[in-house]
Amino acid sequence: GKFYLEDPSGTVELNISKFHSGLYTESCFVLAEGWYEDSVFHVNAFGFPPTEPSSTTRAYYGNINFFGGPSSTSVKSSSKLKQLEEENEDAMFVIMSDLWLDSVDVLEKLRTMFSGYSSMPPTCFIFCGNFSSAPYGKNQMRLSISFLLCNYSSRFVFVPGPEDPGPSAILPRPPLAEHITEEFRERVPFSVFTTNPCRIQYCCQEIVVFREDLVNKMCRNCVRLPSGNLDIPNHVMYTHITSLFYWAYDYAMRVYPIPDVIVFADKYDPFSITNTDCLCVNPGSFLRSGFTFKVYYPSNKTIEDRYAYVFAPPVSFFFLSSGFR
Ligand SMILES: *[C@@H]1O[C@H](CO)[C@@H](O)[C@H](O)[C@H]1NC(C)=O
Ligand SMILES: *[C@@H]1O[C@H](CO)[C@@H](O)[C@H](O)[C@H]1NC(C)=O
Ligand SMILES: *[C@@H]1O[C@H](CO)[C@@H](O)[C@H](O)[C@H]1NC(C)=O
Ligand SMILES: *[C@@H]1O[C@H](CO)[C@@H](O)[C@H](O)[C@H]1NC(C)=O
Repeated sequence: GKFYLEDPSGTVELNISKFHSGLYTESCFVLAEGWYEDSVFHVNAFGFPPTEPSSTTRAYYGNINFFGGPSSTSVKSSSKLKQLEEENEDAMFVIMSDLWLDSVDVLEKLRTMFSGYSSMPPTCFIFCGNFSSAPYGKNQMRLSISFLLCNYSSRFVFVPGPEDPGPSAILPRPPLAEHITEEFRERVPFSVFTTNPCRIQYCCQEIVVFREDLVNKMCRNCVRLPSGNLDIPNHVMYTHITSLFYWAYDYAMRVYPIPDVIVFADKYDPFSITNTDCLCVNPGSFLRSGFTFKVYYPSNKTIEDRYAYVFAPPVSFFFLSSGFR
């Protein structure tokens, strides 16, 4: 029942009887303020270290490309791309999570959505898993393709979820197996089956997409459950993920410098907040949140809530009047 602060040089026992609200998990970074007495550090205040704005990071490192991709220098410095980004006001990203492609309801709503966007297809659809409502086994999945037979030039990016076929509980998670997606990729040439997390570069913007039920995990692992109202989205922002990693790919988990947009696809209620110039957005669970999703406009960096409309059956009205039979 004791907690310690530790770093490579040693450990110090903490007295955190005065607990401050927050989702602090073991192995997270904290700033602790207090006094040291009888070999115990008595904590007065406890908080997360402040995040460093990407502008500060870039001022130190110049245009080194930390994000990845083919360019050796950060494309942030390209004025041509910046201009394209600002001028292309029609650019939009549709973001959905828990897209159960084996659900009749979900497929119907997708069809409605695709016909709604047919006159102005989005730049990119970001689809996050789970892609099925029930597990079909390690190597199987029903990827219904009928809904995608639209003539869109949009990109379709598929980010696997925690329960999709593939290795479980290890990050980064590889893309869905080739044999599952083969037919789909042939028929929808602009589809991209990618890793979780994944990175998207759009003009000068850096976008990280991560499908993980972080809120749940953090609450389960936190040192003490917070009481009262907690600003969950703001706490998610500070999460330090302790999970199983492929060490060879641990750079895939880094978000330094802070990207422009982080999609935290979580089954927790949808949110979008801006913190330290980074837009954090959770589209929520598509079906569970009543077919809601998020749309991102890169030209003005705004997020809008959208809803795949449900068309009610025609309603008949009956008027009762004593004058007519
Ligand atoms: C921890 O601090 C509180 C006051 O902040 C004090 O009452 C308590 O005795 C301390 N516990 C230990 C084990 O030092
Ligand atoms: C951002 O741009 C989009 C597309 O041009 C537009 O629909 C939306 O209203 C804009 N939002 C704001 C807050 O300016
Ligand atoms: C993912 O799917 C599994 C079943 O396949 C389910 O148990 C789990 O709750 C799902 N996760 C989310 C976030 O929907
Ligand atoms: C897609 O375009 C082709 C030709 O451009 C047309 O024959 C086909 O019907 C279109 N399909 C859909 C679903 O609109």
